[in-house]
Amino acid sequence: MKVLAISLMAVSSVWASYYQDTYPAVHPCPGYNMGSVSDLPNGFTAALTLAGKPCNIYGNDINDLVLTVTVETNNKVNVLIEDKDKKQYQIPQEIVTVNKNSKLNSFDSLKITYANHPTAGFGFKIMRGDEAIFDTMGKPIVFEDQYLELTSVLPKNANIYGMGESPDDLRRDPDDTIKTLWARDAANPFKENTYGAHSVYMENRAGKFHGAYLHNSHGMDIVLRNQTIQYRVLGGVLDMHFFGGPSAYDVINSYTDFVGRPLPIPAAVLGFQNCRYGYKSIDEVDQVIANYSAAGIPLEYMWIDIDYMDRTRDFTFDPVNFPIEKVQNTLKNLHAKKQKMVMMVDPAIQRNSTYGPYVRGVEMDAFVKNADGSIYVGQVWPGYTAFPDWFAPNAEAYWHNEMDLFYKQIDLDGLWIDMNEAASFCTGSCGTGISDDVVPKFPWTIDPPPKHRPISTNNTFLVPKYAIHNPQDEISDKGLETIAVHANGVIDYHVHNLYGHMMARNTRKFLDNLRPNVRPFLLGRSTFAGSGSYVSHWNGDNNSDWKNLHVSISSMLDFGIFGIPFVGSDICGFFSNTTEQLCTRWIEVGAFYPFSRVHNAKDSSPQELYRWENVAESARRALKVRYALLSYYYTLHSFSSVNGAPVARPLIFEFPADTNVLDNYHQFMIGEAILISPVIYENATTVDAYIPEEVWYDWYDHSSIVGEGKNVTLNAPLHHVNVHIKGGNVVPTQEPKMSVEDTLAGNYTLIVALDCEDKAKGTLYLDDGVTYNTTHSIINFTSDGKTLAASGSYNYGDCNYVSKVIVLGLNDFCDNVYSDPDNSNKLVIDNLSLPLDGPWTINLF
Ligand code: NOJ
Repeated sequence: MKVLAISLMAVSSVWASYYQDTYPAVHPCPGYNMGSVSDLPNGFTAALTLAGKPCNIYGNDINDLVLTVTVETNNKVNVLIEDKDKKQYQIPQEIVTVNKNSKLNSFDSLKITYANHPTAGFGFKIMRGDEAIFDTMGKPIVFEDQYLELTSVLPKNANIYGMGESPDDLRRDPDDTIKTLWARDAANPFKENTYGAHSVYMENRAGKFHGAYLHNSHGMDIVLRNQTIQYRVLGGVLDMHFFGGPSAYDVINSYTDFVGRPLPIPAAVLGFQNCRYGYKSIDEVDQVIANYSAAGIPLEYMWIDIDYMDRTRDFTFDPVNFPIEKVQNTLKNLHAKKQKMVMMVDPAIQRNSTYGPYVRGVEMDAFVKNADGSIYVGQVWPGYTAFPDWFAPNAEAYWHNEMDLFYKQIDLDGLWIDMNEAASFCTGSCGTGISDDVVPKFPWTIDPPPKHRPISTNNTFLVPKYAIHNPQDEISDKGLETIAVHANGVIDYHVHNLYGHMMARNTRKFLDNLRPNVRPFLLGRSTFAGSGSYVSHWNGDNNSDWKNLHVSISSMLDFGIFGIPFVGSDICGFFSNTTEQLCTRWIEVGAFYPFSRVHNAKDSSPQELYRWENVAESARRALKVRYALLSYYYTLHSFSSVNGAPVARPLIFEFPADTNVLDNYHQFMIGEAILISPVIYENATTVDAYIPEEVWYDWYDHSSIVGEGKNVTLNAPLHHVNVHIKGGNVVPTQEPKMSVEDTLAGNYTLIVALDCEDKAKGTLYLDDGVTYNTTHSIINFTSDGKTLAASGSYNYGDCNYVSKVIVLGLNDFCDNVYSDPDNSNKLVIDNLSLPLDGPWTINLF
């Protein structure tokens, strides 16, 4: 075995040996033999040749491959196996712009070893010290035109996170997981594939993290079984990237350095937001806005779903129920109260020869086509629809023009792009052959979804021989057909998972052009690796039930791994009718999602937070905590856009060596300082909260708990969500007001939560919260229990002060399990005017 002794920084693992029932027990494929190795500046290359008779298991074996190993930095290594002729589809750099010039170094040290295995051909291991974190030895690589397979060994009971989008337990079941990556418009699909495709995972092995990412846009299954991870991919190439740890944040830093950093958010989006599908008129919307104010619940953004559209056609306004003048007036009134508005746009454009966006799309040749060159016509809300083809040379000009015309009608504060998997209610080009002028009568009858053709099993692009676990009859169901043709001649089969990403990228570009230097607010449903640079995300159509409340936490945490930290689920649930109790508990969780928005389906009973007094009371209380922490959230997001670090974090990221929290997702942390332990079970009035070893302070009464690394029963009567501050942190807080702007304009109270060594530190990031490239200040607070000091870089002239300091944990109490019932460890220093534009130190006594 040869060893490429390069010191790298770490990464991933996994391997597999699970096959479907139809898959032969003995692997039928010969693998590849590696030829002689040539050195490259940062790695090596070698030819791989099929090692035996083609198995043609789910396609046609490709005889000649090229292996290229690149040690990009000491924390990232790339193993690329591609066909020698480069006929297999590879994601173009202009679609997912990956960073091949990473400058990140440090962390773990990796080696790659490789060999020709006697029966399985070429295999490789990514080594961290003596341990293989990814090991394909003895597992033949399969490389066919429509099927790739790569298998790596995992330890028993491996701790794997990521791979989605798929609502599931946070830690994927190592013995029984199939994560299918195929963007799908699917409501509430526990464990199944849904809107986005993120083939990145992280593993926690004995307290250290590493990660791996397969850069490939095809449909795939990633299977965890029998101590292996196995990729089964419908085409393309094996382009594996391994990222070093040892912390979860190191891995995400490297991953987002590669695929793209999360976009910087405007501060206002941290405010609470309300939406529903089914508002009947702008008058109703106005009433909802007024009701929020009357109930004393802060509402930063009001959202309008497709209801505003004229017969659900993009870029139009219903002249009766949402006349443009009235909508503009609502926007004006919102702005007067420092509130904002977001509206939805779908990619599906009604096929109608009198509808401008369609006519111009035809003229500009901007739509997806059928094989015969005619326009592909599916069916979405406005009946028969064409779909912008983001690959078309004119697509950007087309879309930007339509958006521009739209924005000339209404100058929105945010945009919501939906249905961009791309979703379609019929299978195939069901409008083909029907005249352009056949526009169904509104409201369109969209059922039954017309299946305009029988399942075509002899076309392997419609029905590939390897059936990924996409739970539909065909992979084309619910979306663009896989044989629809894009402008570059590529069929949708290869690029299906990129549609939403490309729409987001294109739309973001429009918004950046529209208001250069203003951070846009763009929310999108279908995402891919790197989409976080363009768009934020909500977790789609959940159900109003307790299980969905629970899983909303893991879905939020998953997107932290995927590099989209500004994320949240529909609070109180989208489909079906919520209940007062569920909604009360849900807002207690949702108030802490990075993206905090109530949203509801058209036929479900209303659930605005003021509808029930219990819900309203919990909303006021929980949102008060959130608003007090706005600058803390904002600081976390600002770092996220630099190093990818998630804002909402599972406990295992913060306590990587604590095996008790490997599976924990009934609690979560915001940054490293705030622990949320919500009620997620019906009728519960207590929470079994795991309290890691550290001292923690109750948010509300400042009493302390010295965590012993075990469960503690916390009281959680209705209206109360348990929030704790971890010792060792200085947390900047402000007086909560009804708007983000007013809250952030206030002076600060610093909560100095000392740890058992009497230390604490924290950071406050300040800028104007609106523009790009603003001057900013990064202020570091440190305390040794006797003094509190501020220092850092001061470029943003913030004229607020620190007006109060609350020190928690002053006395020596860490030996007690519960202590300080009377707050004798607390010191409050009031009436301060400590500036935020320069350093200072104060004595605490
Ligand atoms: C599907 C989206 O997921 C949902 O949030 C929205 O309300 C409906 N489309 C209607 O636009």
